[in-house]
Amino acid sequence: MTTPAPAAAPKSMDAIMALCKRRGFIYQASEIYGGINGFWDYGPLGAQLKKNLRDAWWQDMIMNPCWGKKGPNGDRVRCVPVETCIIQHPKVWEASGHIGGFNDPMVDDRETKGRFRADHLQGVWTGPAHHDSKADAAAVAAEDPGDIGTSGRGLIPECTVVASTSGEALQLLCEDRKLQKSLRIREIATAARVGDARALVVVKLDDGKWRHGVIEAVPMDQLKREFNAMPSPFTGKKTVLTEPKQFNLMFISYTGAVFSEDNKVYLRPETAQGVFVQFKNVADTTRVKMPFGIGNTGRSFRNEVTPRNFTFRSREFEQAELEFFCHPDESVAWYKFWRDFRMEWWKSIGLAGDNLILREHDKDELSHYSQGTSDVEYRFPFTAPGFGELEGIAHRGNYDLTQHQKVSGAKLEYFDTTRGEILPNGGKKGERYLPHCIEPAAGLDRGALALICEAYTVDPSRPSPEIMKFHPRVAPIKAAVFPLVDKDGMPEVADKLSDEINARFGRYGFIETDAKQSIGKRYARMDEAGCPYCFTIDGDTLTNQTVTCRDRDSGQQTRIAIDQVSTFLTEKIGQ
Ligand code: GAP
Repeated sequence: MTTPAPAAAPKSMDAIMALCKRRGFIYQASEIYGGINGFWDYGPLGAQLKKNLRDAWWQDMIMNPCWGKKGPNGDRVRCVPVETCIIQHPKVWEASGHIGGFNDPMVDDRETKGRFRADHLQGVWTGPAHHDSKADAAAVAAEDPGDIGTSGRGLIPECTVVASTSGEALQLLCEDRKLQKSLRIREIATAARVGDARALVVVKLDDGKWRHGVIEAVPMDQLKREFNAMPSPFTGKKTVLTEPKQFNLMFISYTGAVFSEDNKVYLRPETAQGVFVQFKNVADTTRVKMPFGIGNTGRSFRNEVTPRNFTFRSREFEQAELEFFCHPDESVAWYKFWRDFRMEWWKSIGLAGDNLILREHDKDELSHYSQGTSDVEYRFPFTAPGFGELEGIAHRGNYDLTQHQKVSGAKLEYFDTTRGEILPNGGKKGERYLPHCIEPAAGLDRGALALICEAYTVDPSRPSPEIMKFHPRVAPIKAAVFPLVDKDGMPEVADKLSDEINARFGRYGFIETDAKQSIGKRYARMDEAGCPYCFTIDGDTLTNQTVTCRDRDSGQQTRIAIDQVSTFLTEKIGQ
């Protein structure tokens, strides 16, 4: 478990999004029609970045799980893949609990027709004392005076805003002047700590006086009781909000020609259930033996009420989930193993700094069947100084198999011939059981977004001040080959080298060539796209068969033999 380090100044999300559009990483879906909220398309560089992330997951989770490490049972980890349908029998979702329970409590603003998640309503409460200056208010607030009329005392907040953490609420309030006007706030600033759950602030309200204050989520019981008195997060008006109501997050569709209740189906909200319903087939038709994992990757769909923060919360996204089945007695050891490995894995592809943490859930956050859940969390610019979930690692007990066994009537137990008492012939009697499951569930879009945010670096001393420092393994462009000038035989040598390394590395990413513009401009373009290495053919190449090799991160150039370029890339890219 890591303790979060103090946060550096957050990177600008606007600048990152602008670069993503400009360089073809991520575009708004259906942009020419004005876009569609909660949906994003990947451009050429983004599509390759995400493929590299998916491939790295597939390689390190399925083909060579955990880099060949041994698990807590002393054996190598064994995993196999499946690829299951987006649309499943509706009973799958009944059994999994998604039809009955995959709900967010929602509140509508009757006037603006705006809708938001009730648990995302953050309130700004202010203390009773007025202060003559911002500094006076800040001095009081910094001590967390505890006299603030917070939710706990049942008072109504001065204003509300929709955000998943108090830090995000503060960012929104600070950024959006129009929003502040409608919410009685003239100015707001951080006074001291900003945590996920509570931010201490100073606030200047429309009476011109300063107050110390706090931002916290409006408690659900208060919202249920006092929704009429609660100010709208959109207009600040009271008596316009509805009582929180449950809203199912699954997208509905119909099979066949008739749009009837009988033909209703759902787009899967997670890839995991496809594994549970095929567990028995995989166990019976392959040579896997307990313990083993089944991986599944693909699109999932959730009709998120407030999609936001670029691709972080989308309505269509991609998951990479592993369901690792084991004997109940070994499940806690496997849970710890996977939790630690998943953290190491994210570090290995470039999220190695202070922005990554592993957060173990408190006991009271766990489902009744779970003996542990941890989240790998990344400090995105829009969550800073807080963190957002990249992946959850959950001990799910035998909850899912029990549910599917109950609802389908199929027997899903596993007969383990390596267990049970020893028979007179020396063999084992065997043991029949429903295995426990450890589930590392990663989001590939959030993963790609974290890689983009981490890679984004501003260095004003460089010709192109924006550099994408991707780990070479995930970088969408692996290398570029440039002739210094577009003549004197250099383009021909560049083409030959480019063809050679494309044949070897092209399956992992683009190999770029470009003979136009000054060499400095060409390097700058590659820096911005995150290409780790550029090779330049110059006059010396023609006489001594060496090329310049320029390193993206340091900008330094060294000379290497042209016939060593492939070996160099193999070492650096690690493939
Ligand atoms: N089977 C367990 C499961 O689906 P989850 O925490 O709901 O767990 C796993 O989802 C991962 O999927 C999350 O950690 C996140 O990375 C990604 N994810 C979930 N909802 C998402 C959304 N609306 N947009 C983008 N990614 C999402």
